[in-house]
Amino acid sequence: MDTPVTAQIILGIESSCDDTAAAVLRCDGPRAEILSNVVEGQTALHAAFGGVVPEIAARAHAERLDTVTTAALREAGLTLDRVDGIAVTSGPGLIGGVLAGVMFAKGLAASTGLPFVGVNHLAGHALTPMLTDGLEPPYLMLLVSGGHCQFLLVRGPDDFTRLGGTIDDAPGEAFDKVARLLGLPQPGGPSVQAAAAEGDPERFAFPRPLLDRPGCDLSFSGLKTAVLRARDTLAEAQGGLTETDRADLCAGFQRAVAEVLAEKSRRALDQARAAAGPLTGFAVAGGVAANTELRARLTALAQATGTPFVAPPLALCTDNAAMIAYAGALRLAAGARDDATLSARPRWPLDRTAAPLVGSGKKGAKA
Ligand code: KG4
Ligand code: ZN
Repeated sequence: MDTPVTAQIILGIESSCDDTAAAVLRCDGPRAEILSNVVEGQTALHAAFGGVVPEIAARAHAERLDTVTTAALREAGLTLDRVDGIAVTSGPGLIGGVLAGVMFAKGLAASTGLPFVGVNHLAGHALTPMLTDGLEPPYLMLLVSGGHCQFLLVRGPDDFTRLGGTIDDAPGEAFDKVARLLGLPQPGGPSVQAAAAEGDPERFAFPRPLLDRPGCDLSFSGLKTAVLRARDTLAEAQGGLTETDRADLCAGFQRAVAEVLAEKSRRALDQARAAAGPLTGFAVAGGVAANTELRARLTALAQATGTPFVAPPLALCTDNAAMIAYAGALRLAAGARDDATLSARPRWPLDRTAAPLVGSGKKGAKA
């Protein structure tokens, strides 16, 4: 007798910020194989504006969703009739982009008769270590990007506890703003990191925001202002900045961000263990997780606490549709279905019990 075929081919669609993405996965329970993962960024479209312009982003998504999806199917070597289900980011994010993706997915589902589900973008990030490393809950996830900054205790595919997060800017946003203040190119993270490599992290005594407060909430906007003040003081005294000044400012800023994130991670690990017992891992996601100083500190922290450190490949840490297909596959396998009434949500906290966050970053709501 033939063994029943349980693997499902899932098409994922993501358009919540400034990346139009589509991916095809073969999913079998918690295991999945990525057949294709296509991401078309919009950096060039927004470059002149110093941040993502929601209207431009939405229009670009609407124009590109079909070609990106066609490319993902082609790369997977499949046609739409081989797909078993569709998953789409239905929030949180910039509403025009989310709407474009949701409408596109509804159209595909209506024309093919395929089941489809809306997926929380943050769940996509939070479940990525299950996809890439086979990590089983419970684990702690630190999301650090241009739009997100939060600690999530992941106890299951639909069971998240938000332990803390930023009360203002996301760290990637702070890196980008500091780069702008110092005349360095965007995106700011890599250029600040490169300048910091030549700098003295001790020269400027930048604050360590919220370290004096218990818990693992974070704040980055005061740090950015401290860099601005130091820059202005130097410029006034010397009539400008030297390369050394720039490098020292970057090194001091990066050290402050890495130290604060490491200390708050230590507290989050304690809280997660107190709530869920031994953890299978400490995972990071988001573009800022590429920062070498931060990564070194988090790796050392995880080692010191006997927790495996999991950093998925960068292409799956930053925005992508493979994570959406994966999170959607788990929902579809659990029997979830959406229909034409599915709405796009600008804000959608993963943890329904945590207090809402204040602030909204340049890349959208900090849900
Ligand atoms: O996850 P991501 O690609 O996009 C979203 O935010 O959605 O993250 C981008 C952010 C940018 O703010 C960028 O400056 C930051 O990640 N970033 C870094 C580094 N590489 C990228 N920040 C610090 N150090 C880096 N090496
Ligand atoms: Zn994201």
